[in-house]
Amino acid sequence: MILRLYLRDITTGQSVTFLKRLHLSVQTTKILASQPSPTQEFVMSIQWYPGHMHKASKEMIETLPLVNVVIEVLDARIPYSSSNPFIGELCTEKPYIKLLNKTDLADPEITLQWQEYFEQRSNTKTLALDLKNHDPSKQIIDLINKLSPQKEGRNTLAMVTGIPNVGKSTLINCLAGKHITKTGDEPAVTKGQQRINLRNGIMLLDTPGILWPKIENPQGSYRLGTTGAIKDTAVSYEDLAYFGAEFLLEKYPERLIERYNILQLPKTEIELLELIGAQRGCLRAGGRVDLERVSTIFINELRAGMLGPLGFETPEVIEAELEQVAIIKAEKEEREKLRLEKAAARRRKAKANRK
Ligand code: G4P
Repeated sequence: MILRLYLRDITTGQSVTFLKRLHLSVQTTKILASQPSPTQEFVMSIQWYPGHMHKASKEMIETLPLVNVVIEVLDARIPYSSSNPFIGELCTEKPYIKLLNKTDLADPEITLQWQEYFEQRSNTKTLALDLKNHDPSKQIIDLINKLSPQKEGRNTLAMVTGIPNVGKSTLINCLAGKHITKTGDEPAVTKGQQRINLRNGIMLLDTPGILWPKIENPQGSYRLGTTGAIKDTAVSYEDLAYFGAEFLLEKYPERLIERYNILQLPKTEIELLELIGAQRGCLRAGGRVDLERVSTIFINELRAGMLGPLGFETPEVIEAELEQVAIIKAEKEEREKLRLEKAAARRRKAKANRK
């Protein structure tokens, strides 16, 4: 459970937003969720679905019937959260290749768990890649030909899809053996579809990086933000840093000790960021730590792999989170139903009174 508390700084009188992620029991969560107060707001998922993504999704769905193989590039640090649920749902029959890329930044044991998990679906094959350092062209071409054998006089159409910044352009440049598409660490560089003839019987269809209209799992959305799939202007580095610091304190404390030379790790993410901030000289006038500056440094270091290879989610963790999301969704629907019933009853009563 993530709470956003609006407090007032007693020294300046200014209001300050304070994010706190709390692990509450389901019962407490239910009580809080049913009693929103003006000082507490439940942090929702980060959402980023600009108009060009909506347009690109529509184009992709229109082209899908012509496609022989779907290649979805994923971020190996967040294989589930970086996978587009809508494309998966639309392609239950088509050969589907999930490429777990950036394995140089990902926890190898967890990557293997995800490969096994995805391959439970009969139409799905996976490959773990590190496109930055290795050329997997032959492996990928062989797999495409195996899943969709070439037909005389016709190219196999392989659609390359994925969320922003996972390495789609890097993959296409690799397969084409030349610099065709622009790569970049800034999400959403490619804006329209383009076809690339590999001249070996395979035609690639390059599609823009897209997310989906509603990211239901808040944890998943924070993972997307932390790893760099969501444009920086749509998220706050501070929020991401709280999320990242909490995650590392829980799952990879030894990496924090090593990277920041900390003898005794603090208990909370805020204390950790303050410690790193003081170490790096991120101070405001009066000696207070500049949380925005230290957050930017921390997130950039995490994204660049300076905290070692990370696995943000396992199949087990995701299953638990999806259960929680389903409970919250059902409760919200129930509250909405009750609200509508009460409103209808009020209208009926008012009408009866008028008669
Ligand atoms: P996209 O088309 O899916 O949006 O992604 P793109 O290929 O543009 O790649 C986004 C960033 O990820 C690029 O970094 C790229 O080099 C990097 N990248 C791709 N594959 C890997 C990988 O396996 N490991 C790591 N660590 N990084 C990878 P960049 O620095 O912005 O671009 P560039 O200067 O390298 O071109």
